[in-house]
Amino acid sequence: MTKQTVLVVGASRGLGLALAEEWLGRGWHVIATARGASAALASLAERFPATLEIETVDINDAAGVAALRDRLAGRRLDVVFVNAGIARAIEASPATASEADYLDMMLTNAFSPVRAAEHLRDLVPAGGTIALMTSELGSIANAGGGWQLYSSSKAALNMLMKGYAAKNAADGHTLLLVAPGWVRTEMGGDDATLSIEESIPLVVDMIGANQGKPGLRYVDRFNGELPW
Ligand SMILES: NC(=O)c1ccc[n+]([C@@H]2O[C@H](COP(=O)([O-])OP(=O)(O)OC[C@H]3O[C@@H](n4cnc5c(N)ncnc54)[C@H](OP(=O)(O)O)[C@@H]3O)[C@@H](O)[C@H]2O)c1
Repeated sequence: MTKQTVLVVGASRGLGLALAEEWLGRGWHVIATARGASAALASLAERFPATLEIETVDINDAAGVAALRDRLAGRRLDVVFVNAGIARAIEASPATASEADYLDMMLTNAFSPVRAAEHLRDLVPAGGTIALMTSELGSIANAGGGWQLYSSSKAALNMLMKGYAAKNAADGHTLLLVAPGWVRTEMGGDDATLSIEESIPLVVDMIGANQGKPGLRYVDRFNGELPW
């Protein structure tokens, strides 16, 4: 069987780096992107010289994303996983947050991931998967007020993907909005309930379980559907 290829966008550290490592360990060909030099990705490439390619892109740079798509022209991406995201002003509300922090989050967490999906979708065959890292906090139905501004950026991501899914249904892609759980990374912090090892292998299992099942789903690492 031909080796499957996954593109992980935003893989310099944290969950994205772990996604790249997990797929490499499972024998996949991985294209992993970072914004700049990533020592962690470079050392992963030493372990997997034949199967890890490193690309550079800032997801907020439209021309850069288009250029990445052009560099990958002719490639078959079985899975595209857009992981990049930021958390700013997590304790703040609209009255106390800086507008710049909020706009940065909306751009990085909502607008840019869907723009990347639009640029990259023609490299994904029918039956392939486009996954975007959202959060349990993106659920409007379950909202409890925590990380209010960040949560709204992930809810916006979910909404943008609803529109994307309707417009591009003919692609036959599996579209996944992925909630990985609360994980100890730079963003998740030390109090988070899960280690990276307790989340990411389950996320990769869940992506596999959904392969070849077209349509949009908002799912946790156990492949359970979350309320929008
Ligand atoms: N940790 C959690 O508990 C948790 C829970 C739910 C959802 N998530 C989501 O999971 C994803 C990864 O989070 P994490 O916990 O691994 O966070 P992290 O440790 O802060 O890592 C964030 C990653 O996103 C990249 N990134 C940020 N802005 C980018 C941009 N403009 N262009 C390209 N890459 C960019 C970062 O690259 P640089 O190194 O260049 O900054 C880094 O690789 C995010 O979407 C986050 O919202 C996390």
